[in-house]
Formats: sequence, structure tokens, C-alpha cells
Amino acid sequence: MTTDLAGAMAASEPTAAGESPLVERLMRTRTLSEALVAPLSDADATGQSMADASPSKWHVAHVTWFLESFILRDHVPGYRLFDDAFPFLFNSYYEAEGPRHARPRRGLLTRPSLDHVLAWRRHVDEALVAALPRLPDAALALVELGIHHEQQHQELLLTDILHLFAQNPIAPAVWPSVRDTPSPLPDALHWIEGADGIVTIGHDGAGFGFDCEGPAHRVLLHPHALADRPVTNAEWAEFIADGGYARAEHWLSDGWAWVQAEGIEAPLHWRMGDDGHWRQFALDGLHPVRPAAPVAHVSYYEADAYARWAGARLPTEAEWESAARAIDPASGNQLDDAGPTRPRAGVGGRGLRQMFGDVWEWTGSAYLPYPGFRPAAGAVGEYNGKFMSGQFVLKGASCATPRGHSRASYRNFFYPHQRWQFCGLRLAKDI
Ligand SMILES: [Fe+2]
Repeated sequence: MTTDLAGAMAASEPTAAGESPLVERLMRTRTLSEALVAPLSDADATGQSMADASPSKWHVAHVTWFLESFILRDHVPGYRLFDDAFPFLFNSYYEAEGPRHARPRRGLLTRPSLDHVLAWRRHVDEALVAALPRLPDAALALVELGIHHEQQHQELLLTDILHLFAQNPIAPAVWPSVRDTPSPLPDALHWIEGADGIVTIGHDGAGFGFDCEGPAHRVLLHPHALADRPVTNAEWAEFIADGGYARAEHWLSDGWAWVQAEGIEAPLHWRMGDDGHWRQFALDGLHPVRPAAPVAHVSYYEADAYARWAGARLPTEAEWESAARAIDPASGNQLDDAGPTRPRAGVGGRGLRQMFGDVWEWTGSAYLPYPGFRPAAGAVGEYNGKFMSGQFVLKGASCATPRGHSRASYRNFFYPHQRWQFCGLRLAKDI
């Protein structure tokens, strides 16, 4: 770093919430992205396995485009873009930023090279650190948004590279495997009674939150209980063995059509071995399915079908969030640095466990605007609001979510057939 990092850090005070100074958090986030692509060749970082997934190189470039456009270009007089061609290549979906390269064709961008993108990142980092002490509050808020945006892409980078490597018959591992110590299966699940009556959910404005998390508002909860832990792989194997994927009565009509059309018979990345046992492809390679770990890579349709088979249902977003408010969102198995990451068996105990970490948990709630929702002003108003159609909310955090990124009010969202994220479930029931 050739710029005056110390000066910028002095100008960026710790927040009231006791967080590190902004510049420190920005650079920690930027460094983690580079560590995530460090094990990858240029070819690895360029491949794109499906339209929903993006190349690793595109992710680390796109987050840099976001910072360069919305902070350096818009708030630093005299700043010149690193390369005038990059906005077309690395704008994702911002109509206000003009035309862009088609998403399904991102894997064809063999140039710029990964090294060239990394050089662009260093250029932007140096300019940001130099500019931070003089940025107006509106731009500092965009730096904060840029950090959280890059953290979201770190998780996507991991799930996308997992999906890409899963297409390769030699089953390459992104990271070397760690020795497994077999975990005992968890006890039978216990039901934890939730709040009953009017509760407040949504982001209350204290600390960072995406625009879609607010405003805070009241909702009515009916008597219900949540399972104390997520559904495990062993339990999912029972669902399969009981013909779960073969019996229409468990499935929503759309879900049953999807199972039939796609030939779905197990979670994504599960493979039946010649010995009749399931294996799972993960970031640390191909392994026997770990029975005690939470099931991951299931769609909303699958989660809903499992819940019906189990005589339960998915929690609503409000039930989940109301229960999670007393739990530390930085707890659990989340991403701390670049290294093997996968859902892990929970440890025993009482009360709600693994609410944050391991797997995102599908809720039965549609991703819709809260009462009084207003998208943020400017191009970043396209960040969330325009996707509020046909998607379902997931809560918590996964093993690939950078620690510190999530909150009880956090609203992750995907279409009901999508399952390449670390998506699992926790059961709920009426009482
Ligand atoms: Fe993005």
C-alpha cells in the first residue's frame, strides 16, 4: 500500500457499535476476496458453469467496479477510471449505469486476465484509502455498502466455484481436505416455543442494514414452535429412503413439476457411489455424506416437501427473526478466512442452536417489501427492491457467509428452484 493508510485510519473512528474503523474493515474484506481466489488458476477463475453462477474473476472484478463507480467516480474529483471498458464488462444489473455484458456469457471473458483484475483491485484500493479521510458522509455510507456488497459476493464466489468444480469428473477440491473426526448424530430434535402475539421485526436503523430489511414494523405471531436445530443429512437420507422424491403427495405442484422435469432425487452435489452409499462433493472434495451435518443445497421446493413429510412446516420469516433476536449473529460456523468451509455437525445443548452459520434456512415467507419500504436513492436503489417478485426469504448465515455480515433482520432471497447456495432448513409447527 503506497498511500497514507495510517492517516486514513486515524480519520475513520470506531463506530458506536464498537466495530473496527471503516478503512480497516474495508481492507480486511478486500484481502479476504484475494485470499479466496489465491488457490485458483486463471482458467478456474474464468469458468462459468451456469447462468445463475459467475466466474470467480468476475466476482472480484464486479465488486471493484461497484467501489470505483459509486465512490471514486462519483465522489473523488479528478479520478479517472482504470479502464473505460470495464464498466460494460462488470456492471451486473444496474440499468441506471447503462448497458452491460450478458450474464450467461461472463465465462467467455478470458480477458482481462485474473492478474490484470487483481492489479485493478490494488489501484482502486490505493485510491480509496487515499480518499477516505475527505469523503462526505454520503460516500462513506457507500463504502459501508461496498463492504457488505463484497461480502455477499465472497459467499457467491464460493458457491459458484463449488458448482463449477462439481461439473468436473475428476472432482477437484478448491481446498485440501481436513481430517474428519466423525461426529455423533444429534439427539432427536426438540421444539422451542416461540413468541405469541404482536412482535416487532425488521431493521431498526441502528448499524448497517440493507434497505430491504426495514422499516421495523409490527407483525402478529400465532402460537408456534421452532426445531432447536436444522435438519441433518441423516434425516434427509431417511426422506430419500422413504420415497420422498417419488411421492407427489409431499410436494407443491410447481415443486413436483420441477422434480419430474429435472430428474431430482437428492440434494445438489450428492452422488450415489457404486457401493450404494451417498457421497457429497464439497469445497474440500468428494466425501461420504457426513450424517450429523445439516443438509445443504436443497431448494425451497425440497425444504417444503421435507417439512410436509415430517409432519411440520417451514418457519415464517417473522417467527424465525423473532426467535433469533436474542442470539449473537456472529456466532456459529461462518467464514473467517480462506480455508476449508462446510456445514458442520452441531454441538449439543439446550435452546435454539445453529441459527447462524452452517446453512441458510428457508422460510415459508415470500420476499416482499415491508410496510413503508422505500428503496435507497440513486443507482443503488436497484440493489434489492426490484427483485421482490417470486422469491422466498432465507434467514441466518451459512458456513460461507463472512462472519459479521449477517443479522437477525437479514433477508437473503432466492427463487424456489435454486439450490446451489448453502441452503438448508429448520422445521416449525403450529401449537
Ligand atoms: Fe453485486
